[in-house]
Amino acid sequence: MNEDQVYPPAPDFVHRAHVSGMDAYKALYEHARTQPEDFWRSLAEKELFWFEKWDHVFEWDPPRVKWFAGGKTNVCYNCVDRHAEGAREAKVAIQWIGEPGDERAITYRELLRMVSRFANVLKACGLAAGDRAVIYMPMVPEAAVAMLACARLGIVHSVVFGGFSSEALKARIQDLGAAVVLTADGGWRRGKEVRLKDAVDQALEDCPTVRDVIVLRRTESQVKMRDGRDHWWHELEAAASDDCPAEPLDAEHPLYVLYTSGTTGKPKGILHTTGGYLLQTTMSMKWVFDIRDEDVYWCTADIGWVTGHSYVVYGPLSAGATTVMYEGAPDYPAFDRWWRIVEKHRVSIFYSSPTAIRALIRQGDQWPNACDLSSLRLLGSVGEPINPAAWEWYYRVIGKGCCPIVDTWWQTETGSILIAAMPGAVPLKPGSATLPMPGILPEVIDFSGNPVPDGQEGFLIIDRPWPSMARTLWGDPQRYEDQYWRRVRGKYFTGDAARRDADGYYWILGRVDDVMNVSGHRLSTMEVESALVRHRAVAEAAVVGKPHEITGQAVCAFVTLKEGNWDHHRLGGELRQWVAKEIGAFARPEEIRFTEALPKTRSGKIMRRLLREIVTSHTVSGDVTTLEDLSVVTRLSSQPSDED
Ligand code: WT7
Repeated sequence: MNEDQVYPPAPDFVHRAHVSGMDAYKALYEHARTQPEDFWRSLAEKELFWFEKWDHVFEWDPPRVKWFAGGKTNVCYNCVDRHAEGAREAKVAIQWIGEPGDERAITYRELLRMVSRFANVLKACGLAAGDRAVIYMPMVPEAAVAMLACARLGIVHSVVFGGFSSEALKARIQDLGAAVVLTADGGWRRGKEVRLKDAVDQALEDCPTVRDVIVLRRTESQVKMRDGRDHWWHELEAAASDDCPAEPLDAEHPLYVLYTSGTTGKPKGILHTTGGYLLQTTMSMKWVFDIRDEDVYWCTADIGWVTGHSYVVYGPLSAGATTVMYEGAPDYPAFDRWWRIVEKHRVSIFYSSPTAIRALIRQGDQWPNACDLSSLRLLGSVGEPINPAAWEWYYRVIGKGCCPIVDTWWQTETGSILIAAMPGAVPLKPGSATLPMPGILPEVIDFSGNPVPDGQEGFLIIDRPWPSMARTLWGDPQRYEDQYWRRVRGKYFTGDAARRDADGYYWILGRVDDVMNVSGHRLSTMEVESALVRHRAVAEAAVVGKPHEITGQAVCAFVTLKEGNWDHHRLGGELRQWVAKEIGAFARPEEIRFTEALPKTRSGKIMRRLLREIVTSHTVSGDVTTLEDLSVVTRLSSQPSDED
């Protein structure tokens, strides 16, 4: 596909869109650029409910920022109460589909009742604003209820993806000093039970701060309940009252911490706060998803990732939308599962990832073609650049050539979408995230911090703070500053490479740090390495991402072993399993390569660049003068591997 191929928005889409036509986009963008205070103030007044007005729209003392500080609001109130007590009372807030086929349609009024009761449960456990709750749940409505109930009281939540192992769960509970864990007996995935409560029990052997565990009954399997610590969700809820007013909280009150991989072995706890986060996630529902009351909106992300926070729960509910939640796998019981859901529930906006799309392409067009997808009007993509072949298939086979595709670039740290097309305004170029949102000033710079000319590659940075940006890393403000704000003072360093073309469109080229992107999920090379070296057989490990047809990148580990008589084939399998246990199944290396030594610089730093070259091209070129032992490289590149 030609990079210059442009898809202008269809006239009828433009006509009905929230942001209609390129001039409207430009006007918004210019307003935000030239008068940021006025721009965000008027949106905050118009789009959100406030108990009390703020003192200043923003205060910027890099890297510290405050948005609407002094203002009092509540995320849960904005997502639930204001709709439940208004015209959307009987509108479906959450349309849920369980993997086995059970379904629930929860109206805004019912959601308010569920959230209020559960907030009272949390109160009865002695929790109050500022305490931390860890949520380790399947994709069921109660997971959203748990998040919203925390937000209602100012309890800081941290959702841990259900695919994480008990080890990873433990590390997060400990880092947060959580007082409560909200979980379920299990959840359904490809017809099998994911045993969540068992993992919680293991994690809690070493988590003295946790006083209570609240367990939702989902799979109805046998679980152990520890007296005094573990309680059934339904039993506590039955005793709770429906009445629990939302707490007026400062706009800068912490809303949640979400752990994501950084460049070291220790995950970073990204902290998001209240007012600015909610405002910008709400705005992007209009700007990017063009949300309207009659839409049925479905983002396929799990609530364990930031996409699930901003675009399954907070953004859509604040916008008063119907948000679809599906518990299970896209290929269960068959490859048409997603398309059957679109057909049955008349989904109009569908937001997913390139990796999922590529996996479905492989199964053939007959699956979507057998379904009625005529309700769709807009498609979205997130997690990595969408390759032209996947774009084309998504556009023709799913969108039938009449749904714009919004390719949305953002990060856990950015809180909401920063670069994407407004679909009724911006012509699309497949593979480009297109243009920045209002208030976002991206730049592409070189090593010395100077802007590079259009058309050239460089580091993507963002000038100026935006409302939904992360405020700090939980317990580690120094790392926050070093990681994001030191490269160019006062500007945010994204960790991505990008190029801007002559039309001002951004083309994201991938990470520039030691972070892999596997199935749209961020994974640090160091995190997998640390897990590997904890195994008794491993002396050293170096991990790189290698290109993969479906998942974008796959984990490839180079391992040197301690003295001993090891059966490489067996050990390969054991180490892959080990990583799954230490981190989670999604981090399991696809390939383990045993080697005598790893290529290092004179100062002892592993040269991952060389290893990347080996797994990508099977040869090594480029500068190797700082290598300690060149023969290592030659041996590695000609070596057979222990692959699946
Ligand atoms: C990294 C952030 C934001 C939710 C999903 C991942 C990559 C994300 C795109 C896109 C190209 C993308 C970047 C970014 N990325 N969206 N549309 N085009 N690359 O969140 O785990 O925080 O990862 O994902 O490399 O830095 P995350």
